Amino acid sequence: MKTLRTQVLIVGAGPSGLLLGQLLHKAGIVNLILERQTGDYVLGRIRAGVLEQTTVDLLDEAGVGARMHAEGLVHHGFDLVFDGQRHRIDLQALTGGKSVIVYGQTEITRDLMEARAAAGLPTLYSAADVQLRNFDSAHPSARCIVNGEEVLVQCEFIAGCDGYHGVSRASVPGSAIRSFEKIYPFGWLGLLSDTPPVSHELIYGSHERGFSLCSMRSAARSRYYLQVPLTEQAGDWSDERFWNELRLRLDPAAAEALVTGPALEKSIAPLRSFVAEPMRFGRLFLAGDAAHIVPPTGAKGLNLAASDIYYLSQALIEHYRDRRGSGIEHYSARCLSRIWKAERFSWWFSSLMHSFPQEQAIEARLHRAELEYLVSSHAAQTVMAENYVGLPW
Ligand code: APR
Ligand code: PHB
Repeated sequence: MKTLRTQVLIVGAGPSGLLLGQLLHKAGIVNLILERQTGDYVLGRIRAGVLEQTTVDLLDEAGVGARMHAEGLVHHGFDLVFDGQRHRIDLQALTGGKSVIVYGQTEITRDLMEARAAAGLPTLYSAADVQLRNFDSAHPSARCIVNGEEVLVQCEFIAGCDGYHGVSRASVPGSAIRSFEKIYPFGWLGLLSDTPPVSHELIYGSHERGFSLCSMRSAARSRYYLQVPLTEQAGDWSDERFWNELRLRLDPAAAEALVTGPALEKSIAPLRSFVAEPMRFGRLFLAGDAAHIVPPTGAKGLNLAASDIYYLSQALIEHYRDRRGSGIEHYSARCLSRIWKAERFSWWFSSLMHSFPQEQAIEARLHRAELEYLVSSHAAQTVMAENYVGLPW
């Protein structure tokens, strides 16, 4: 058996784990990442990429912002479409000059992986059967199998950045953790294509046939979504069927302008609201998707992961540099206060924009009234914009 030592063991090389690793490294804190998959597998995931300013600032602080600033698209607003008409939400005017950057999460992960490799920081990919031990003591450790060999990692803290299906949250005794969950009765069918986006800003659509979203990865690559029943499979949807359905859910001008092309990828994702409390168990911290999931409407997932990592990196830096424990003590409460607000926003935006299969006729009318109120009220738009660009840390 091989034995390795580190200060902070990070489980998971998604955006949370990689970002934490960079921030700790910059502060001189030694860290090791264990990742169940290969690096290529991790880079194969396609996920939302709308970055709040605070997320952008943290990526800059981690030293990985160059390509994001060069290739990311700054968006000052987005459109809502319903009843065949588009309405712009002017983020910049409503928030005193704030905006978001559209830059794919896959690219962020790639930038972080490259920075980690360039700094020569250790990551054990294809780490199987990770088991976390003794995190309620001063000497936590983990065991796993890498290339058929058993590896023991001795550490001072464990950061559980291993996503919703990871081992970290599952290692906590059931009596010590409380989960809150809502599963929505539909999914998002996503399509990626090398076609110019239908509009230079995102379009969120509410239609009796279901929600739609026109997003993008670059000026030449589009990402579109359709609300579909959970009984559907991506294979049921030819490219033509997808494009025809999307056109039906847009306004006439957007339907006309839509440039179609072959799908590079098509998949269905479920929608879930989930929070686990607390987020610290002795010397084990949960961060990112390991602790919470938001439905993708509003793209808060990565931004919430970033705020957890900000609080966690600050807490660990405070511990090692100043020998103070208050950041660690308050980690869970600080994260959760922001998480619940983003959960509320994502739930509200999802509820407003989707057609619910069991919905009574009155609920559909109430959602329509709320949309009409939203596009006619500066106050309502201000609330939406403030949440969309991100609440302060
Ligand atoms: N051992 C080691 N690694 C694991 C294990 C395990 N038992 N289980 C899961 N992992 C790895 C996964 O393979 C994945 O690479 O942990 C990583 C978790 O990454 P993500 O799921 O991307 O979670 P996170 O880094 O918190 O990123 C949050 O991703 O889902 C989006 O909307 C979400 O944008 C948010 C972001
Ligand atoms: C995406 O581009 O994948 C995306 C954008 C905005 C969202 C959700 C997903 O709200």
